[in-house]
Formats: sequence, C-alpha cells, structure tokens
Amino acid sequence: MTLSPRITKSPLRPTIVNLVPNGIGAVSSLALGEPDIIPLWFGETDLVTPDFIRDAAKRALDEGRTFYTNARGIVPLRQAIRAFHKRTVNVDVDLERITIPGAAMMAVVTALQCVVETGDNIVCVSPVWPNIFQAAEMCGAEVRFARLEEDWTSGKWHFNPQTLFDVCNARTKAVFIASPGNPTGWTVTRDEQKVVLDFCRARGIAILSDEVYGTLTYDGSPHAPSFLQVAENDDAVFVINSFSKPWAMTGWRIGWLVHPKMLSEQMWVMSAANNTGATTFAQWGALEALSPRGDAFRGELLERCRIGRDTTQKFIDSQNRIRWIRPEGAFYGFLHVEGMRDSLGFASNLVRNARVGVAPGSAFAPSDDTATDSYIRICFAQDAERLTSGLERLGAAVGRL
Ligand SMILES: Cc1ncc(COP(=O)(O)O)c(C=O)c1O
Repeated sequence: MTLSPRITKSPLRPTIVNLVPNGIGAVSSLALGEPDIIPLWFGETDLVTPDFIRDAAKRALDEGRTFYTNARGIVPLRQAIRAFHKRTVNVDVDLERITIPGAAMMAVVTALQCVVETGDNIVCVSPVWPNIFQAAEMCGAEVRFARLEEDWTSGKWHFNPQTLFDVCNARTKAVFIASPGNPTGWTVTRDEQKVVLDFCRARGIAILSDEVYGTLTYDGSPHAPSFLQVAENDDAVFVINSFSKPWAMTGWRIGWLVHPKMLSEQMWVMSAANNTGATTFAQWGALEALSPRGDAFRGELLERCRIGRDTTQKFIDSQNRIRWIRPEGAFYGFLHVEGMRDSLGFASNLVRNARVGVAPGSAFAPSDDTATDSYIRICFAQDAERLTSGLERLGAAVGRL
C-alpha cells in the first residue's frame, strides 16, 4: 500500500487494499462485450431467462410490488423453495431454515459471517470458484485448500477426506464444498458427505455446502447428493442455492440459504442489515421459476448442457494435447492442456489473438498449486454451433503453443 507523504496512518484494512481482480476478471476485462468474441469464460448459458419468469416479474412491477418486503424473503417463495427441496432431494426443510438474502453470493457471505472472525480459517475443496475464497478473505479469514486429485485412469476427480482433515486446525471454522463443483463438475458422494459431517460435528466446524449446480447433473437423478439429506435441523450446515444457473437468471441476483434452524431470528437481522433482502419483483419472478413450467425449463437447459458436454467431448477426442475429466455435473469443461504452464498468459493471448474467452485455471487455486495452472475452464451451456467455433479457435491456438 503506498500512502502520500503526509498520510502516516490509514484506516483501510490491508485485506481490502490488497484485493486484486481474480484471473477470470483479468482476462474478461481485455475484451468484455466485444462482438467478435466467443465468450466461454463466465458461468452462464447464452439463453435469456424464459418469458414466463420475466412476465411474472413484469406483472409484479405493474401491480406496484416495488416496496420493502420481509427481509428473509416473501413467504410464498420460501414455501415454494421448501417444495422444491421436497421434490428434488426428498427432504422437508423447515420453513424457518430458509432465507432469501439476495443472490447465492450473498448467501455465501451471510454463511461466512455466521462462522468466521478475523484470524479464523476456512478450508475449501479446490479447484474452486475464486469469488468464494475472495469473499472469505474479505471476512478476515485465512483460506486453506484441500485439492481434489486427478485420476486419469478412472477418469474421475478423487476426493480424499483425510487431505481435508489434515488441513484443519483449531482455528478452522468452516469447510467449503461446492458439489457439483465449479470448475471441475466433481460431485461428492453420500458416504463422503457423512464422513465430513461426522468430522465437522466432532470438531465444531461448519459446513458450507454450495449446491447451486445441484440439479445440473448427468446421471439421470433429479439432484446430486445434498447435505440437506444428511444434516439435522440444528447442525452447523449451510446450504447455498441459486436461481442463477438452472433457470438462466444470472442477472437477477437471487438465490437462497438453508441455515441452522436456531439462527432463524438472527437471519432476519443479517438479511436486513446486509441488503434488506432480495429485490421484491425478482422474488415474484423467482416464484414462477419454481412452477411446473420452471421445472420443464430446467430440463431443457440440462439437455442443452448435455449437448454442450457431448460437443466438448467430441472436440477433445479430436485433440492430442487437450484432455479432461468429464464433468459429472455443472456446465463447465475444465480442460488440461499439455505443455501449458501459464494459464493466465495463455487465456489472455487467446482473447487477443483467437477471439475466444476462457477462464484461466490458475484463478481456481492458490498460487502454489502449479498443477491447476495447466488448465483452462470453458462454459459449455451454449449454442452448439458457437461452442464448436469457440473450441475450433481454441484447438488451433493450442496447436501453435
Ligand atoms: C459455485 C458457485 N457458487 C455460487 C455462485 C454464485 O451464484 P449467484 O449468481 O446466485 O450469486 C456461482 C456462480 O458462478 C458458483 O459457481
């Protein structure tokens, strides 16, 4: 931090002053919005939110639903979220455990606020989306990582709970698990969840389970294993969810948090103090997303993702320096590029010269994780033709490496 000569003391927290954009932001800032770019860098489909959801929000506006509302979310939406959990993971979640604080990122921050104080640490299963660990750092936490291992023989990411446990110490307040994961698509099993839950219960550690890709799973089940299915009402388990991904609603900034029941009153205070809840008319749109029509749309989006995954597989089959561990869920291809050691440099050149936007692998890991620097992430929830063009441009660039 540089201070002008007359300023000797600054009230600004070094943690904040030292923040730098993560690698996804750094690459996308090179050409965001330029029409000739094929953007595969962000976690979103190219589909616009379906019209029946947009219409519901418009109707809410026309009906004058423009006022403050219950800071924990409108009751019909919380009830619909409860029904969603019942039909996707077959758990009857107590209404008092459901809060809609804004988008999933707000849910992550709220959960972090519940558990960490400056000097504490959290452990993230990595590779992991960088906004998560940046949010934890902003709350004053040290962030530790427990890396999944590539098992190229079985074609799966391997999670070793012991690796996670070894990283925990007396100041560990939470473990963060995103499953299906961003960027890997790795999906935690029920047995692994139970082992982690037992450990965390015994050690007084919270679990932040990010399930925003829970329904984007390719094994035909309605939902990946959820911590809601193994945790009790008052376990220190926080399940984060979002309307962003399955309903193509990234710009709406709305998601939800399932939290310990004992925090229901505190959630009112936290939600009020953080953001006074989510945008009112967005909540009425979200309510429509949870209707049978919304379920049908989720199915269509999943199909688009399945085609995107197949398209990416076909591309990889045609390449000799690119491989992947085929994702079990979510909508990302985490592509390993043989001979690439600087993913940020590669992704930056790709934007400049090949006009295709990808996220550098280094963004999803701490700087000493050099293995992850040989990866790039694409989002394949895209129109198949454009995705194919983007992949062709990528393949040509790898050929020139
Ligand atoms: C793992 C994970 N959690 C949370 C989010 C944030 O979702 P939202 O748009 O609702 O803030 C994302 C978005 O990419 C994500 O990948």
